Amino acid sequence: MTLLRDADIDPSPLRGKQVAIIGFGNQGRAQALNLRDGGVAVRIGLREGSDRAAEAGAQGLQVLDPAAATKDADLVMLLAPDEQLARIYDCISDALKPGASLGFSHGLAIHFGLIAPRPDLDVIMVAPKGPGSALRSLYAAGKGMVALAAVARDASGGAWGLALAYAAAIGCGRAGIIRSTFEEECVADLFNEQAVVWGAVPELLAAGFDTLVESGVQPEVAYLECVSELKLLAELVEGVGLAAMRERISNTAELGGLLGGPRLVDDNLRRDMRTILEEIRSGRFAAQLSEEADAGYPRLRESRRRAAASLLERTRQSLDRSA
Ligand SMILES: NC(=O)c1ccc[n+]([C@@H]2O[C@H](COP(=O)([O-])OP(=O)(O)OC[C@H]3O[C@@H](n4cnc5c(N)ncnc54)[C@H](OP(=O)(O)O)[C@@H]3O)[C@@H](O)[C@H]2O)c1
Repeated sequence: MTLLRDADIDPSPLRGKQVAIIGFGNQGRAQALNLRDGGVAVRIGLREGSDRAAEAGAQGLQVLDPAAATKDADLVMLLAPDEQLARIYDCISDALKPGASLGFSHGLAIHFGLIAPRPDLDVIMVAPKGPGSALRSLYAAGKGMVALAAVARDASGGAWGLALAYAAAIGCGRAGIIRSTFEEECVADLFNEQAVVWGAVPELLAAGFDTLVESGVQPEVAYLECVSELKLLAELVEGVGLAAMRERISNTAELGGLLGGPRLVDDNLRRDMRTILEEIRSGRFAAQLSEEADAGYPRLRESRRRAAASLLERTRQSLDRSA
């Protein structure tokens, strides 16, 4: 693995080029503002009635409808929810100029065939490894965020150079860019979301909270133990790594973790992780995501409603009020 940095990257593939960013959400906003601050010509494509048009306009960005933003653009970045990208591509495909480049920040829509781009288009990916808010604040502080970059189709012969120049222009060359593939980025990202940080960890926190509360511990105490301390863990892991993290905590916590952790993260859990990985690889999850979007997101709406009404959330609010 080579970590490419600004000094290794030729910025010229973006020079004099027009970039269109479709979507002004988490990634779209951050990437557009970083490009603008770096002197790249960027415009925003938003559907009619978008609440975000005013904010993009207030930032001095030109806002057009997605097809108009795409027309004449050399690189069109699709930065809207993955399950919406096929619909968006259908709206802009006639406007994409011959030989333009189509860009993504996640591999799903291309790897699982939700979009089949025209053969004359380069298809690239620059996937920052973190949320847009951090991509923007790091850039503003003169720093950057690590990104994965990849090429799915190199029709022009210059797709990799363009991907690198784009990654550097949004600040990722300050931290490092790793060459990957759409498949690798997409599968690893979905796996983490489902089986590790965004899937397993919140469930583990809630299960720990429930277990203590059911045994008679006050909800506020259970929340402080099982939920609030996650921030301490994240800071230690980020700052010094997993190995040194264990040395930084008390011997009591270190031995307790050594005895308790592997009882939960056992062979059964590792087998279930492999099953989740297989389901991702097979395209089952990508199909479920499209079905959820087509049905109007019933599962997501129900889960948000339940989480907002839960004892855990009410406890968080009561601790916030007393702080
Ligand atoms: N979020 C992250 O932390 C993160 C990190 C790395 C990579 N990524 C990837 O970055 C990409 C963008 O994700 P995101 O989280 O930034 O998305 P997001 O914040 O949910 O995107 C919101 C934007 O998409 C627009 N949009 C939604 N549906 C649309 C449609 N049908 N037609 C036109 N515009 C539509 C919204 O328009 P309105 O303004 O009209 O609502 C809004 O401007 C995805 O591929 C994602 O996997 C995300």
